[in-house]
Amino acid sequence: MSKYFSRIEILPATEEDCPTLAQVEEAAFSQARQEESRSLSEIMFGPPAAEGESLRAQDLVHKMQTDPTTRLYKATIKEEATNMKRIVGWSVWNHYLEPQPMEERKDTRSRLIGNEDAFHEFFGALLRARKLYMSGKPFCLLGVLVTLPEYQGRGVGSALLEFGISEATKAGLSEFWLEASADGYSLYRKFGFENVDFVHMDLTKYGSVGQTKHVCMKKSLP
Ligand SMILES: CC(C)(COP(=O)(O)OP(=O)(O)OC[C@H]1O[C@@H](n2cnc3c(N)ncnc32)[C@H](O)[C@@H]1OP(=O)(O)O)[C@@H](O)C(=O)NCCC(=O)NCCS
Repeated sequence: MSKYFSRIEILPATEEDCPTLAQVEEAAFSQARQEESRSLSEIMFGPPAAEGESLRAQDLVHKMQTDPTTRLYKATIKEEATNMKRIVGWSVWNHYLEPQPMEERKDTRSRLIGNEDAFHEFFGALLRARKLYMSGKPFCLLGVLVTLPEYQGRGVGSALLEFGISEATKAGLSEFWLEASADGYSLYRKFGFENVDFVHMDLTKYGSVGQTKHVCMKKSLP
């Protein structure tokens, strides 16, 4: 098999895909967890558990059913051994064709598990930056981009980014916004996103060590 998959297929995700999407996300972020004693994601949503994945799947279904700006795309690859298509990554975007109030949304996971203070501190800071730089104009938000660890570095994330940007462009959007983790940063730079601001979180407040830095990034098409 070549290093880069030639047959990555990107399709809109369905409600039936959501349990798999939650598993892929959990696996993608589990690597970061191994490097820190307790990662930001674990602080906010609790340790890896079937309950957390199931709540995340419900949260994604809820988003699809109630938020018409949501666009969920899955990346599939046909596995040679089984000839079956497997979901290996996904992304979620919001097409904000009208200016948004940008209120904090309810997340079904934070109701039951994890640290709500950390959740509100982190997402509150992201929202403040979005409001500061993007309020009053239409834009496309990239909310999540994840690839299964064993498929990373082979073009899946790039294919999802290319597809998402193209679909938003077709919808008439030309401004893109995201908050990059350390893993995604260099990929976003390659796609022309530029640094706008930073969001730091001190994890010692929540019984862990160190701090995280997310880079708020923007891309404007001519
Ligand atoms: C960030 C993430 C989604 C990237 O997904 P990915 O599938 O590994 O992305 P790609 O394979 O398209 O790109 C990764 C690298 O391979 C390179 N690459 C991909 N296809 C290539 C090709 N055909 N030729 C040469 N290089 C290629 C990319 O340029 C990139 O290089 P970089 O590491 O220097 O940036 C993935 O690492 C992940 O899920 N991380 C954990 C979750 C996370 O942090 N998500 C981001 C939140 S903001």
